[in-house]
Formats: sequence, C-alpha cells, structure tokens
Amino acid sequence: MKIVVVGTGYVGLVSGTCFSEMGNNVTCVDIDATKIKKLKKGELPIFEPGLELMVANNIAAGTLHFSTDLSTAIQGAEIIFIAVGTPMGDDGSADLQYVLDVAKSIGETIQHRSIIVDKSTVPIGTADKVKTTIQKALDKRNVTIEFDVVSNPEFLKEGAAIVDFMKPDRVVIGAESHYAIEKMKQLYTPFCMSHERFITMDVRSAEMTKYAANAMLATKISFMNEVANICELVGADANQVRIGIGSDNRIGYSFIYPGCGYGGSCFPKDVKALKKIAEEYNYKANLITAVEEVNDLQKLVIVHKITSKFGKDLSGKTFGIWGLAFKPGTDDMREAPSLYIIKELVKLGAKIQVFDPKAMDEARSFYLKGLKNVVYMNSKYAALSNADAMVLLTEWKEFRSPDFDEIKNLLKAPVIFDGRNQYNMFNLEKKGFEYYQIGK
Ligand SMILES: NC(=O)c1ccc[n+]([C@@H]2O[C@H](COP(=O)([O-])OP(=O)(O)OC[C@H]3O[C@@H](n4cnc5c(N)ncnc54)[C@H](O)[C@@H]3O)[C@@H](O)[C@H]2O)c1
Repeated sequence: MKIVVVGTGYVGLVSGTCFSEMGNNVTCVDIDATKIKKLKKGELPIFEPGLELMVANNIAAGTLHFSTDLSTAIQGAEIIFIAVGTPMGDDGSADLQYVLDVAKSIGETIQHRSIIVDKSTVPIGTADKVKTTIQKALDKRNVTIEFDVVSNPEFLKEGAAIVDFMKPDRVVIGAESHYAIEKMKQLYTPFCMSHERFITMDVRSAEMTKYAANAMLATKISFMNEVANICELVGADANQVRIGIGSDNRIGYSFIYPGCGYGGSCFPKDVKALKKIAEEYNYKANLITAVEEVNDLQKLVIVHKITSKFGKDLSGKTFGIWGLAFKPGTDDMREAPSLYIIKELVKLGAKIQVFDPKAMDEARSFYLKGLKNVVYMNSKYAALSNADAMVLLTEWKEFRSPDFDEIKNLLKAPVIFDGRNQYNMFNLEKKGFEYYQIGK
C-alpha cells in the first residue's frame, strides 16, 4: 500500500518506519527541512531504541522515503496519516493548528479518493473539523473527491515504541464507512497476526479512548503518589504498600510506583486537555483536576526532602543528579520532572552536576539552555564528584545497580535522595548511607 505519514516526530517516524517494515511504500513528510535532510541520510532527530537500524534498512530497501513536499507525496497514496504535534495551548486545550494546517494542504492538493487518518491525540470532534477543512478546500477548487476521515489514536510508549507498534495490544479505529474500516484492517493485519487486536468504533469514541487511557494511567500515578505522601505521615512504607495492593489483579503492579511525578509529551498535556474538553461541555472534571494538582506538587517533594536536610539556602551546596529524561529509554525532555527540580534547586542557590545517557543535548541546548550553575558531566560517577548528595531522577537501567562503594568515595558525605524509589531494596542505611525515598 502507498502511505504518507505527515509529521516525523516520535509517533510519525516510528509509525512510518514500521509500516514500511511490513512492505508498504511509505513517505514521511515534515515541514522541518533540516530534519528531513538528516533523515534522508539516516540521521535520526530523536533517540528511540532500534529505530535507527530500522530506518536505515528501509531506506536501503527503497520502501521508506522522506520529503518536505506534501502535495507531491500524497499523489497516489491510499492512506494519509496526520501525526503532527498537538501541544498544549495557552489555556490548556490541545492546539490544533498543525493538524488543521495539514488538513487544509491535503484539501488543496489531493487528486483522488484517500483515507485521512488522525493519529495525533486530538480533542473529541477534531475529525469533523478535519473533514470540514478538507471539504472547504475542495469546494474552493470546485472539485468533488471522495475521502474518509478516520481516528486511529496511537498508544506506543517512548523507549519501547518499536515493540509497541509492531506488536500492539490493540489497534483502535474510529470510522464511519465500511471502505475505510476494511482498508485500515488490511494495513494493520500484519501487526495483529497472533490474535484479533482490531477494535472498531465510532470516530468520537476513538478520539475519547486515547484521552481516557492516558488519564487513567496518570490517575494511577497520582493516586500512588498521594498514598506515598500519606504513608510518610503515618509511618507506613509506600513500597510495601505498593507490593501489597499490586498483587490484587484488579489493581495490578504497573503505574503504581511512587516517585517524583509523571512528565513527558503526553500525560501532562492530555490530562489538561481532557479537563478543558469537559469544561467546554460545562462539566467540572474533579478527579482529573486533582490528578494534575497532585502531580504538580509531587515534582517538588524531593526538593522539600533536600531542603529539610540542608536548609532553604543551598548556596555552596552541589548536587550530583542522575537522570534528565522524563523516563528511561528516551531523550524526550518535555515536561520532565527533572526540569522543575533542577530549576528549583538552582533558584535556592545550589550547583548541579548532572548526567543522563541520552537527554543531555536536549537539556543543554533547549530545556535548560543558559541556566547557570548546571554542569553536564560525561559519566554518572563524574556527576557525583565532591557533591553534597546524589539525587536520582530517571530510572535508566545503567543507574539501577550502581557501585555504592564508588558513590560513597565520590560524594562529600554518603547522602542519596531517590526520586524513583530504585534503591530501597539495597539496605543503603546498613551500607552507611543517609537514604531518602518517596513514601517512607
Ligand atoms: N510521543 C509519544 O509518546 C506519543 C504517543 C502517543 C500519541 N502521541 C501524540 O502524537 C502526536 C505527535 O506526537 P510526537 O511526540 O510525535 O510529536 P513531535 O513534536 O515529536 O513531532 C511532530 C512533528 O510534526 C511536524 N510538523 C508540524 N507541523 C507540520 C506540518 N504542517 N506538516 C508537516 N509536519 C509538521 C514537526 O516539525 C515535528 O517534526 C501528538 O498529538 C501526541 O500527543 C504521542
């Protein structure tokens, strides 16, 4: 099948590459000319395990192409995916300008029947807006071309995106016509060979499914963080409570780790957008609002632990930080809790020595650009040299079982603040550390 994917970010690039891996002829389009130039040479704008090799193989096989020219790329394409960003607007709602820009360009240049698929996470009713935008452009051209607008929300996780896309738990398709459903089935069948994972529904329900899924996961995280905060007050251990409740399969173990809050490009903006969508329909989403409030406070819990020990004036203190990315396996720094924590520590006068396996360039050149008193170190141990304490903020695999003797030697005093509760099974107090975790 000839396919076009518009937007070569985490979702567009992974989807396009995986579709080409299954033998489709895919063109990935982006307005960022530098990105496309690099992609044509096999240079990736993002870090995602396994993606670089897959892109290189498919470029070499002639099934994956990159272009900035949408109007040429869509000629002959049966399916056109819109996978551009839907960032948080000023009022918290999803900003649809990129999605609708693409829809307009499609309407202005399309020549034959196509299926246009919203893969971006978009508010309920966006497919109708996309449809109207395309139709208006067609009317302006005075042409009649049949097209379908389908909702196909994406559930991949950064850091495991290839596996998630190649073996999805489910493929959700919101569509109105039998033709569109059959085409989408044809495209996704190779990804769902072992059992039926194709779920079809109406367009609005498909759009809502994505927000509901992210809001549910964010709720689990905020719920557990709130329980952890109460555990601290009542003298319980949140980690033991986690194991206790996770064993109930109605609750399950995933997404109930206490920590310094959720971040990333999806949960914060999607939770906010869902709240906003409800408001537009005059519904006050109390639970969703609380999920967000708990998360905002949670990002600073580790800072409070640090100031409880060192006082509110941190001048003259140095902290060795492990981890910048909002989670392991990605260089994505959008809404990462580390940003809030580092800025707060610097504001209180601290100096930061930081190491992250993948996200240092992003932080240095954009998210923490120009922030004084932040030094980027070339190894995890170098970040601890002569520091007053170590602070763990991202649970990268290479941080999970470190050499604690080495850590002790490097730090001025053996003090660890564990923002991800990674080391509570190591009996660090017995090893002579002052050990602070979340929820105990
Ligand atoms: N990142 C994730 O883990 C994830 C997971 C599921 C769903 N989503 C959703 O998928 C969508 C895309 O997310 P992302 O993280 O891949 O975004 P991203 O910001 O990484 O990439 C978006 C890309 O779209 C390009 N773009 C913008 N306007 C364009 C236009 N008019 N024509 C062509 N290209 C254009 C940008 O240059 C950029 O390369 C969002 O709605 C997001 O919420 C993201």
